[in-house]
Amino acid sequence: MTSTVEASTPQPAISEQAPKLLSQIAGYVGHRTVASGLRTGVIGALAEADDGLDADELAETVGLDGFYTSVWCQSAVAAGVCDTDGVRFRLAPHMDTLLLDTTSPAYVGGVFTVLEQYEVFDRFEDVWPTGRRTWWDECSQEWIAGVAGTGTPFYTRLVPGGLEQVPGLAERLTDGCRIVDTACGAGTGLARLAGTYPACDIVGVDGDADTLELARQHLTSEGLGDRVELVESSLEEMRLDTPAALVINNISMHECRDIDRVAGNVRDALEPGGWFVISDFPFPDTTDGLRTVPGRVMSGIQFFEAQIDDQLLPRTAYDDLLERHGFIELGAAELTPVHAVTWGRRS
Ligand SMILES: C[S@@+](CC[C@H](N)C(=O)[O-])C[C@H]1O[C@@H](n2cnc3c(N)ncnc32)[C@H](O)[C@@H]1O
Repeated sequence: MTSTVEASTPQPAISEQAPKLLSQIAGYVGHRTVASGLRTGVIGALAEADDGLDADELAETVGLDGFYTSVWCQSAVAAGVCDTDGVRFRLAPHMDTLLLDTTSPAYVGGVFTVLEQYEVFDRFEDVWPTGRRTWWDECSQEWIAGVAGTGTPFYTRLVPGGLEQVPGLAERLTDGCRIVDTACGAGTGLARLAGTYPACDIVGVDGDADTLELARQHLTSEGLGDRVELVESSLEEMRLDTPAALVINNISMHECRDIDRVAGNVRDALEPGGWFVISDFPFPDTTDGLRTVPGRVMSGIQFFEAQIDDQLLPRTAYDDLLERHGFIELGAAELTPVHAVTWGRRS
């Protein structure tokens, strides 16, 4: 039986459909090339070589086989990651920043290696028949460290640039106040907040003990151990004694099992007029949006999110959430196509 939609929609030719699949295969090859180049240090070595290197020089620098290195170089050229004059290879413009500079707001290197970890696609396929869920306490230290790497540019864009877009907040932060980073993870954001706002007290809350231990070690190594208070608590149970002027949440609000309870707890943790700033992936809410490059990348992240029993949310879900909990002066800004901030004030 032919439906009305099928009858009235002309079908594309097979030759028009095949490139959709071939571009996925090409993307997979490019992805594996970049990820292996990062893990082996090949990309790092190329970044150090202003005049470029031929494949044998590159192989010798990183202690790898020459022939295999030449195969990698060719694929890196194919992917547009490297340029060549036919003999020497160098990173294409800005690839060093994009792939290696963890302090840059444009850094995306961590995403390549994190997407190849077991916790994303391989574990998903293993537990697909049973739907068995997991949580952070069952994830490897490498995974937690990898996620911290991908979260870093989100904090870099948020602090201070993203927060400066929130009307009235910048002055309060300069003058000094209490800031709480909810679901603080391994402490990257806490260190950044402490360094950027020296007059502020910083508190980090996270529900995973091992992750908080990583945060403690990170802060101690940065000499910030006495600047930051760490609290182990699920956000659904969070009770903080001293009111804060700012509560942030970076790429974690979608993970909360009960975002309404969390929003209520955040409101209770704020002083009157205090701000709640949610920094997260804005998951597309249309098919066209899903088919964009950012939409496709975020679809990949959903494989891990599903295993911890959540999904990335459209940004407007946070407008609705803040409204439901009586926040006022709502606002939002897109920092990149995969990063948006949404804010509101406690009335
Ligand atoms: C994706 S990581 C992000 C960590 C950090 N904000 C960053 O950007 O690097 C999510 C973190 O949220 C924490 N988390 C998730 N749901 C939570 C909840 N309901 N209560 C407390 N912590 C939670 C996890 O333990 C994990 O450390």
